[in-house]
Amino acid sequence: MKDVVNFYKDIPFNFTSDIDFYLKNIKNSNQVLEYKDLHKLLIKNKSLFKGKLIKDVIEFGCGTGWLTNSLMYYYNKNLTSVDFTEKAIEVAKNVSKKLNKSANFNHCNIFEYEDNNNYDLVISLGVLHHTFDCKKAFTKISKFVKPGGYLYVGLYHLYGRKPMLQFLQSYSNWHGEQSAYKLFKKMNKSMNDDSHSYSWFRDQVLHPHETQHTYEELLGWIKEINFKVVSTSINNYKDISNSKSSDLFDLEKSLESSSYEKNINKLEFSPGYFTVCAQKE
Ligand SMILES: C[S@@+](CC[C@H](N)C(=O)[O-])C[C@H]1O[C@@H](n2cnc3c(N)ncnc32)[C@H](O)[C@@H]1O
Repeated sequence: MKDVVNFYKDIPFNFTSDIDFYLKNIKNSNQVLEYKDLHKLLIKNKSLFKGKLIKDVIEFGCGTGWLTNSLMYYYNKNLTSVDFTEKAIEVAKNVSKKLNKSANFNHCNIFEYEDNNNYDLVISLGVLHHTFDCKKAFTKISKFVKPGGYLYVGLYHLYGRKPMLQFLQSYSNWHGEQSAYKLFKKMNKSMNDDSHSYSWFRDQVLHPHETQHTYEELLGWIKEINFKVVSTSINNYKDISNSKSSDLFDLEKSLESSSYEKNINKLEFSPGYFTVCAQKE
C-alpha cells in the first residue's frame, strides 16, 4: 500500500508540469469517445441505457484528471473526485480552473473515503488493480451508486496484459531501464512530451503493485453486489443482452493473441485493459 503511495508521490501517472499540455489534450479531442458505451451513457442513449439521465458522478483515482475534466467540459456533469496522490490532484484542479469548471476534489484513500451522497455514475479507470484488495475496493465504491445508477470500472486484464508486460519487463531486465524506455517510446509514437511519456512508462512497466483480472471474475463480483452488466469492452461494447456469458469468457481468452499481435508484431503499445459497466438493480 505504502509502496503505491510513494510510487506516485513525486511522479504521478500521466504527469507533466505543463498545464497547457492537459488543456490542449482536453480541448483538442474528447478522449471519452474511446469508451463508446460511456459516451452513450453520458448522452443518455436510449437503446443501451434505457434513457437514464446521468448528472452526479464520482471518480475514484482521478489522477491528473483527464476524465474528471472531460466529463465537466464535454458533458456538463457534477463531479466529485478522489485520489491519494496530492500532486496529481493539484494538476487536475489547475486544469479545471483554466476550463472554468470546478469539481469537488478529495485527497483521500479510497478505503477511507466517506460520503453521505450517492451518485448516478461511479467510475474508476485503471486504479483498483493497484490497491491491496481489488475486490474490496470494487465493493466499496459500488456502495456509492444510486438505485438504478451505474458502476463503470476499468482493470488490467489477465490475458491481455501478459504480452506487453513480459516483453517490456524482460527487455528492461536484460538491457536496462533506459533501453526499455526507448523501446516504450518507439511503441508510443504519439507521445511527445518526455516527462509525460516517462510517467506512463514507469506506471506501465515499473509499478510495485498490480493485479490482473478477467471478465468472468468481475461478473462474479457484480452478481454478489446485485448489479447487472450492461456493456463491456470485451466484445467492443456491443449489446450484450443476447449474448451468453460463456461466449464472453471465450472471447476474453483471445485478448492474449491480439495483444501479442499489437505489442510484439506491430510494436504498438497496448496495455491489456478492459472495462465493464454495470447497473444497480
Ligand atoms: C494509473 S493511475 C490512473 C489515474 C486516472 N484514473 C487515469 O485514468 O488517468 C492510478 C491512480 O489511482 C490512484 N490510487 C491508487 N490507489 C488508490 C487508493 N487506494 N486511494 C486513492 N487513490 C488511489 C493513484 O494515486 C493514481 O493517481
